[in-house]
Amino acid sequence: MKNIKLYFAPIRGFTNALYRNLYAEFFSGFDLAVAPFISTVQAKRINKSHIKDILPENNSGMPIIPQILSNDPDGFIKLAHVIFDMGYETVNWNLGCPFPIVAKKKRGSGMLPYTDEIKDFLDKVIPHIPCRLTIKARTGWKTNTDIFDLIPVFNQYPLSEIIIHPRIGIQKYDGEPDLDIFEKCLRNSNHPVVYNGDIKNVETFRALSGRFFSVDRWMLGRWAVANPFLPAILRKGEDTIPDKITIFKKFHDELFYRYRQVLNGPSHIMDKMKGYWFYFSWSFENSQMIYKKIKKVKKADRFRGVVDEIFSNALKWKN
Ligand SMILES: Cc1cc2nc3c(=O)[nH]c(=O)nc-3n(C[C@H](O)[C@H](O)[C@H](O)COP(=O)(O)O)c2cc1C
Repeated sequence: MKNIKLYFAPIRGFTNALYRNLYAEFFSGFDLAVAPFISTVQAKRINKSHIKDILPENNSGMPIIPQILSNDPDGFIKLAHVIFDMGYETVNWNLGCPFPIVAKKKRGSGMLPYTDEIKDFLDKVIPHIPCRLTIKARTGWKTNTDIFDLIPVFNQYPLSEIIIHPRIGIQKYDGEPDLDIFEKCLRNSNHPVVYNGDIKNVETFRALSGRFFSVDRWMLGRWAVANPFLPAILRKGEDTIPDKITIFKKFHDELFYRYRQVLNGPSHIMDKMKGYWFYFSWSFENSQMIYKKIKKVKKADRFRGVVDEIFSNALKWKN
């Protein structure tokens, strides 16, 4: 496999600092992670708790690029300075978040139809930030054509790269990534482009890298949460990792242990672990049955027993 860069996608609630550090203790293959978004704030001073996830002392495991969600140039500039002062040379702007609560306020993918406002934002922000800027975008909010108005705008600015997830906002995660649209973006962009979306296994990666042979940067999200061995497998081009289940179980138990140290109350812990199991279950045969069992657990104390039972029942890795 040629010299590729693999990025861990930001998945808010999942790929936070606790998870990223633990991930790096057990697995390999990622060059960096884009951290889940931090919103800009109105307040004059930025509270330390607001930027806790990206504090360098909380990020020993993996290099990260912090991400900002905002349509407010002044707030963005202020936060970018704070991020730069922490030692980060690059910041990412989120133009992809599809959640209505975000998008309705013209943020994330909800900003994509507003080409002039995006241009105005970049005009204001770029001369006043000390760090490099990258953008993570979907291809539109309601229509795939938003991105074709935006790429000529992006081309006018010194962006370090554009990460494109070729779905539109209202799709959320339904349907397939639109590879024809991605190809057109690739042809029209003057900036390096990172592909993101549904890289599930060696086969999908081989098909994508065969089609987009000029792309050397790839971002993996949900499927790497489901199968944390995925980046190492993609680098090698095949899965030769022995004892995946044993390693995964150790990782899982440590994840549970660390969340128990930091989360308040059993229901928060259970919600957190159930969230992970939504993705983890994708890696195993009988995934639906496994997730159903996990979902039914009410008490954190019972959780360990149910997980042990699942693991002892000849759990089979799917890929
Ligand atoms: C629960 C969840 C939270 C996400 N949080 C973020 C985020 O904070 N910032 C961002 O740019 N994308 C976020 N994403 C989108 C992912 O980074 C990625 O673009 C998307 O999952 C598609 O890639 P995948 O198919 O490899 O998962 C999130 C996705 C999910 C499912």
